[in-house]
Amino acid sequence: MVSKENPNVDEKAHILSREKPDVQGDAHPKQLLRKIIEDGDHLRPLEHQHILSADQFSAQTLLQLFRLAAKYEANPDRFSTPLQGKILISAFYEPSTRTRLSFESAWHRLGGDIMSITDRSTTGIAKGESLSDVGEMFNNYADCVVLRDTREESLNEMRDSLRIPIINAGNGLDEHPTQAMADIYTIFKWRPELVEKNLPEDQRIKVGIIGVPDKMRTVRSLLKIFAIFSHAFSEVYLFNEEKDACDPEVLAGFREKGLNVIEGGTRFQEMVPELDVVYINAIAWTGDDFQTFGNNFVLTADTPFKDDAIVLHPLARGEELSHDLDQTRFNWYFSQARGAVFVRMALLTCLVHRKGRVLDVV
Ligand code: CP
Repeated sequence: MVSKENPNVDEKAHILSREKPDVQGDAHPKQLLRKIIEDGDHLRPLEHQHILSADQFSAQTLLQLFRLAAKYEANPDRFSTPLQGKILISAFYEPSTRTRLSFESAWHRLGGDIMSITDRSTTGIAKGESLSDVGEMFNNYADCVVLRDTREESLNEMRDSLRIPIINAGNGLDEHPTQAMADIYTIFKWRPELVEKNLPEDQRIKVGIIGVPDKMRTVRSLLKIFAIFSHAFSEVYLFNEEKDACDPEVLAGFREKGLNVIEGGTRFQEMVPELDVVYINAIAWTGDDFQTFGNNFVLTADTPFKDDAIVLHPLARGEELSHDLDQTRFNWYFSQARGAVFVRMALLTCLVHRKGRVLDVV
């Protein structure tokens, strides 16, 4: 719309709309909160843990974390001081939109302070300093470290000298545990009854994962966390075009834990009308660059999803996730990204010994 007073000005370009897209996923934290009975004892082990992998948690610890996350999400303005006086080192040596900013948002929302490093060449690492020595220094400066690195080994090299917790925010192709926590938190908000261990068989859900476990840390961590809650899934299909998408021994390990993982190859179109959850990712970081996979799997508003299905994506997206899905009821990927802030708030609170400030507070 051109301004009458100044024809060179587009008046619409200045309009800020505070309306969110009318998508699902924001209304549910209270239902999940009610479903999980508070038991802070299961959070106690976190006081002595680094967060390295999605399979290091017990189901009970995760459920209590999700309860706390739901509490934060249901009352976002209520808990603004649990991390007051605490400092986070946010070290991201690989690009990130969501993980870095949601961790930093989480820490800020809890009242803490942050030192952020986004380029390793501004530290002693550029002069050959070992990660172990850098970790030794971090002990003096902060109460927690969040690390994203292109190399799988960096996490362990730094961990050895740390006396404060470190959180794996994505280490090469290996893992992205807090992403998987946010993913399953979203699924539990969508269907809170899935947290029940004795779930009737006809209430278990069928999931389709479009992705390559051996090449994508998000998918690797997701499968590990699914295996902890294997009672919730009747079938988990893996769709991709790769020959060696997942190590057979790794798949056998998931099946031993009761997760019914099925290699679906390229049969996605045929299976999609039966799937309750469709999870898609097409990007894998390979050192300093990224590779895209499976451009033949594209989700659009015309994809024949089950009526009450949801779509998840860790983002960033490419062509595999059409923008025309954003305004549909299938879009739970924005809620998934939003919920990650609250999951990270819960985790950070427990790692730095501050859970007493939020448990039993109603
Ligand atoms: N989901 C995720 O890891 O996104 P970023 O790479 O933007 O952190």
